[in-house]
Amino acid sequence: MYFDPAVSKKPAPFSFSPFKSMVVPRPIGWISTISEDGVPNLAPFSFFNAIAEDPPMLAFSPNGYHEEGGRKDTLQNITETKEFVYNLVGFDMANQMNATSGPVPHGEDEMVVAGLAAAPCEKVKPPRVRDAAASFECELHQIIDLPAGSKGSPNSLVIGRVIGIHVRDDVITEEGRIDIRKIRPLARLGYMDYSVVDDFFTLDRPPGGGMEQPPPVKSS
Ligand SMILES: Cc1cc2nc3c(=O)[nH]c(=O)nc-3n(C[C@H](O)[C@H](O)[C@H](O)COP(=O)(O)O)c2cc1C
Repeated sequence: MYFDPAVSKKPAPFSFSPFKSMVVPRPIGWISTISEDGVPNLAPFSFFNAIAEDPPMLAFSPNGYHEEGGRKDTLQNITETKEFVYNLVGFDMANQMNATSGPVPHGEDEMVVAGLAAAPCEKVKPPRVRDAAASFECELHQIIDLPAGSKGSPNSLVIGRVIGIHVRDDVITEEGRIDIRKIRPLARLGYMDYSVVDDFFTLDRPPGGGMEQPPPVKSS
């Protein structure tokens, strides 16, 4: 079948919009920020990804409004302070991550609500999730306004530059790699579904390919 999402987001036979089920699995950006007044905030965003490696950059998209009206706290705080932290969510923190997405009033700290311990960052003011396998300190690069939703709700794209990286020592292998089986990263599917990364396979690049190698020098 084919459908135009501007005409209907869930044409028959769909009972829910299938859009998010077909861009999967999405990593979860568990984003900590702090308001100008010093109130910490934590919320998950699955319209999230790494978008460049050198320099390292991340992007995520806050959509819609806060339950009390106005912008989501995350977007408001980043607009005010130009800083945020990405925390990596492992399967062991699934319930706490979910708790931080709830309707928590402006001015209340979701880390406290979810029973999470905070730890200070090196270069930015927002705290990080102390027990996360990794946390990236980010400075704001740009906020881009995206087209508003069909009912007029706002959509933004927040782009950040990573300026500091914390890695939990126990997830670094003796060979100097990240042990993904220890982290078991949580990923978002469609509907209320999630996945967990606890297996993988390796595929070498085609001979001569590989983005990590510099391009060959052309002889004149
Ligand atoms: C796994 C998960 C992923 C989410 N992804 C997004 C997202 O990409 N964009 C968004 O605006 N809200 C997303 N939400 C909802 C926000 O987390 C929620 O609105 C939260 O209350 C925002 O908090 P804040 O007002 O403290 O920023 C997601 C929720 C969950 C549980």
